[in-house]
Amino acid sequence: MSSLIIRPKGPLYGSVRISGSKNAALPILAATLLSEKPCTIFDVPPLSDTANMLGILRKLGSSIRHTGKDSFAITNDNIKKPEAEYEDTGRLRASFLIAGPLLAKYQKCRIALPGGCKIGSRPIDLHLKGFSSLGAAVSINHGIVELCAPRLRGASIYLDFPSVGATENIMMAATLADGITVIENAAVEPEITDLANFLNRMGACVRGAGTDTVKITGVPFLNGTVHTIIPDRIEAGTFMVAAAISGGRIKLENVVPEHLKPLSAKMREMGISVLESDTSILTEAAEELFPTDIKTLPFPGFPTDMQSQLCALMSVSHGTSIITETVFENRFMHVEELKRMGADITIEGRAAIVKGKPHLMGTKVTATDLRAGAALVLAGLCAEGETHIGDAEHIFRGYANFEEKLRNLGADIEKAPI
Ligand code: UD1
Repeated sequence: MSSLIIRPKGPLYGSVRISGSKNAALPILAATLLSEKPCTIFDVPPLSDTANMLGILRKLGSSIRHTGKDSFAITNDNIKKPEAEYEDTGRLRASFLIAGPLLAKYQKCRIALPGGCKIGSRPIDLHLKGFSSLGAAVSINHGIVELCAPRLRGASIYLDFPSVGATENIMMAATLADGITVIENAAVEPEITDLANFLNRMGACVRGAGTDTVKITGVPFLNGTVHTIIPDRIEAGTFMVAAAISGGRIKLENVVPEHLKPLSAKMREMGISVLESDTSILTEAAEELFPTDIKTLPFPGFPTDMQSQLCALMSVSHGTSIITETVFENRFMHVEELKRMGADITIEGRAAIVKGKPHLMGTKVTATDLRAGAALVLAGLCAEGETHIGDAEHIFRGYANFEEKLRNLGADIEKAPI
């Protein structure tokens, strides 16, 4: 168990390069399984989640070479058994993204039900319904999902909810199916488009990614390719909040401002200056931080993955803000921890009412999940006294070189000695 210690050191200033997107890298790493030819992926962020995904691939038989900073050459010409055990999948919910590629390429797979952040029940029913529509036999025995289909057939699939993971898994499975698959009410997150671009570079025929209707025409095989992962919009957003909460000014390099629109709009409402250029964003703290209301929604709505960080910011604004979480049922675990730091937050069902206070106070808190942990780091940047965050390994699942990047901007943050 690792811990982080943060001591107040005033405003953060400077620039930071945003790493490749965790949520784009994970499905793309899984998608390499669709081909036996080498794929080279650049800007894979150095995180425990991506290391876990690479570990799962290695166990399957992938040959993986680290070809440079954040880049990997992956060849899947020696996959032994299309199977993954709980020891591997239990640490990473996105591990289930290997199901679609394995099913498509090897006609069957056995994958232990995934683990991951405890932010809700996180079922995989939509993934399974999709596979079943493509003609797969689906069963779950003793915690192992078993999928089998001698041939996948294209189908029309309507998702009850635009699930990111289900859209990705079905899209990957459909690339090698016979005929045409249409996914309606598909997720439209930028990471879906990045995956589609990667698949198309491999020779797939995916059209409409980034809209709610994705059409995939099956092809007999896929080739290797070279791809650079898009920048991480959630890491970027977290540094924008870091600028605002510390009273500083941070320039983000390597971002796609379009991907951050839902956050930028809210930050401007709070009085924060957000200046966009082609691939960078300059965020400068507000003279007076106004309250705002947010409702988390699938893209292009406000991202659930930025909800806890904004909650930390609202905790020190001048007024009352309301957060409504509609995507996950249990995503207010950071609230109890922020309250330990003096925040005034009340939860009513799916809403959190945040009454801004002039100051937060450093104390011992626990990172209950990845983004909750990020919120506590942000709160620690402006709190009086020392903030000690336990279970910090959650944070390293999603933020590459986080302490180093924050230290370069002037923060006093370090790993606690064990
Ligand atoms: C992805 C992101 C995660 C983000 C989330 C929502 C990755 C690796 N993770 O997670 O960071 O918070 O999108 O933007 O990309 N659901 C079902 N049945 C299913 C699948 C999902 O009911 O089969 C529900 C979930 O319980 C949840 C909602 O759909 O309430 C959204 O989940 P989904 O979009 O699938 O999120 P993930 O792909 O798991």
